[in-house]
Amino acid sequence: MCGACTVLVDSRPVRSCVTPAAEVDGRAVVTAEGLSPPGTLHPVAGAFAEAGAFQCGYCTPGMVVEAAALLERMPQPDPAAIREALNGHICRCGSYPRILEAVQRAGQAATPAAAPPAPYLPRPASPWDLAAGEEREWFSVLPEGLVVVLDPRPPGPGQWAPSPGAWLHVGGDGHVTAFIGKVEVGQGTRTALTLLAAEELAVAPSSVSLVMGDTDLCPYDEGTFGSLSMPQAGPAIQAVAAAAREELRTLAAGREEAPYGDLVRGLRLVVHARQPRVTPPDSWRVAGRAAGPVGAVDVVTGAKRFATDVHLPGMLHGAVLRAPAAGATLASVDLAAVDAMNGVVAVHEDGFVAVAAPDRLAARRALDGLRASWDRQPSVSGRGVSESLTEYLRTHLSAGEGWDRGFTHEDGDVDAARATADVTLAATYSTAYLAHVPMETRAALAAWEGGRLTVWVGTQRPFAVREALAEAMGVPQTAVRVIVPDTGTGFGGKHRPDVALEAARLARAAGRPVKVRWSSREEFTSSYFRPAAVIDIRTAAAGGALTAWEVTTINAGSPGIGCPYAIPNQRLVSQPAQSPLAQGSYRALAATANHFARESHIDELAHRLGADPVELRLRHLPDPRLTAVLSAAAEAIGWPDGPVGIACGVEKGAYVATAVQIAVTGEGAITVPRLVTAFDAGAVVSPENLARQVEGAAIMGLGGALFEAVTFEDGEICNPSLRQYRVPRFSDVGDVEAILIDRRDVPPAGGGETPILAVAPAIANALFRATGRRVRTMPLA
Ligand code: FES
Repeated sequence: MCGACTVLVDSRPVRSCVTPAAEVDGRAVVTAEGLSPPGTLHPVAGAFAEAGAFQCGYCTPGMVVEAAALLERMPQPDPAAIREALNGHICRCGSYPRILEAVQRAGQAATPAAAPPAPYLPRPASPWDLAAGEEREWFSVLPEGLVVVLDPRPPGPGQWAPSPGAWLHVGGDGHVTAFIGKVEVGQGTRTALTLLAAEELAVAPSSVSLVMGDTDLCPYDEGTFGSLSMPQAGPAIQAVAAAAREELRTLAAGREEAPYGDLVRGLRLVVHARQPRVTPPDSWRVAGRAAGPVGAVDVVTGAKRFATDVHLPGMLHGAVLRAPAAGATLASVDLAAVDAMNGVVAVHEDGFVAVAAPDRLAARRALDGLRASWDRQPSVSGRGVSESLTEYLRTHLSAGEGWDRGFTHEDGDVDAARATADVTLAATYSTAYLAHVPMETRAALAAWEGGRLTVWVGTQRPFAVREALAEAMGVPQTAVRVIVPDTGTGFGGKHRPDVALEAARLARAAGRPVKVRWSSREEFTSSYFRPAAVIDIRTAAAGGALTAWEVTTINAGSPGIGCPYAIPNQRLVSQPAQSPLAQGSYRALAATANHFARESHIDELAHRLGADPVELRLRHLPDPRLTAVLSAAAEAIGWPDGPVGIACGVEKGAYVATAVQIAVTGEGAITVPRLVTAFDAGAVVSPENLARQVEGAAIMGLGGALFEAVTFEDGEICNPSLRQYRVPRFSDVGDVEAILIDRRDVPPAGGGETPILAVAPAIANALFRATGRRVRTMPLA
């Protein structure tokens, strides 16, 4: 259980997901909303908002409720008591340190709550991104005012668009609304982009709203992944806001002090952003400064609406028949039992079998009444990284395609360098399949009206989902609207359209809106994983200098395979394989596995050469930004004293070094009492948000480094629950510190992924330093 659904029953916290309604009959039930009646904030909720103690916010209401109950029992709990009370709650975003701080802070006076969230905007006659500029009826949806348009570059055949567009509206009330195709999954883009728009327009962030990921209203966007939100959407938002500022200045002629609303009231003006002059980071007055997360009050009071929360009158709930194992195909199914049930709709088309019923329990019962048989394929088994899995991947190579296609790069002559070296070293590293474990499981609500389909869904790729829905339903894309409410985490796991398709098919068959919400078990058994990997590294050194570097990474993919060290002879090979389990994107994808191997190996080389691992790295690092983060992390952890380890890397334009101090118990359990991340992602737009991302990524990295691993037999997942698949909890997290290096001379890079990269190798290196034992498999424990 994750604890997100915790409520108070007669002042005692209980998990509502396992509490029968009859059990609370006649008793007082208080939710997070009930703790903060309209116009007020419960002290705990206020402290969470003030400390920014969340990222996606999905776990927050449950945390607030549990913490409120704790403070009732114990008004001033110490950190140990807080950790113990909240240890049953999972924050997959890794906000634990800030939650701890918030609960300690709680007890302050109540403050007024903000207004409830704005409703969705109406539907235009046709999606704006699919209509020519002059055909978009902006003012059928938006009130009078000024609209500034930056059209996205359309993708070429088979390509993704290199950058998104944006548009922005300034209303007669002076409020600014910006539209962007990226989505918010807890990475804080909504806050950072709001600050950039406010900066250009010289208004308070509270005067700016963002519409994100609504395919009827937002410009086309390839998707929210790859730490691209800031590099892509940041400049787009800056451009439209700067163009709006220029247009407003023109409109103001002679009335410089007039509020924006006065300048545009009564107008219906549309202008295109050409090449406006945006504010350089060293002149920022709003961006780059401390600012609370946008929508904090909605999060801490439970008012925030995720896709799982969206309801429509008369809607049904869907449940889908799932294959029992990877590779299993449906041999037969008998729907007779369901066909006889009142109010239940069944669908069987193209191997898709599902039911819809008035509530989730009825849908689940109807599904359980189906008789299905499956054809299963014998396959490999894996307990984390087993020898059989390693062998399987080595002997089932493939050409790969898309993100996992093969890659080869060669510089100099590795073989000649190894032949003449003083020292040669070869080692193999491996990583397990990892599950995303999103706090908000996949969910979609689909509704058909007059041949047009609207789907509310938590996805990282709304426009790709629109395309998939149109193709599967046999309707044009103009007939499909995908709306992405801010989503309870993604981590690369919400790229595919599956849950949206399931809801749309059921809704069409039922003739009523249908919501499909995956269970936590389905997240393990029916989604996809971060790839398992096998990585061979062969290296050489002569005269104390590194002379050869050869890496072959099997199945992980090529991200992060590059070597940042100045080594003259290099051979880099990324070799795809036929994965026995479904696999795909994950936070930083292959870069985590490739950094684990490289940064572990560099330490091994240092040991063989009798060199200090930090000194060896610094001597071979040509990039001053990587040198700077490595030096900062080393200094912060007190290198080289104690059981400490360090690792570094560069990925997606951001530089990271992680240093840890570990403790190893007599039974061999590893804990990490202290973790420091030094991070340089260029100019820092939102320092608080970036620090949250860095801390959260580091905490997520602890799970993959120490204990997370998918276990399977013949394609069947053996640990498909939060009880069996361990993710970091309060008790796993010590002091976590982020050192941000603000490079105002460099455009912002994304910060959501790179800070996870160096966690595992830093711990592996500390483990070697503490025990003399080198572990080359992730997870380490
Ligand atoms: Fe806790 Fe996202 S903020 S799961």
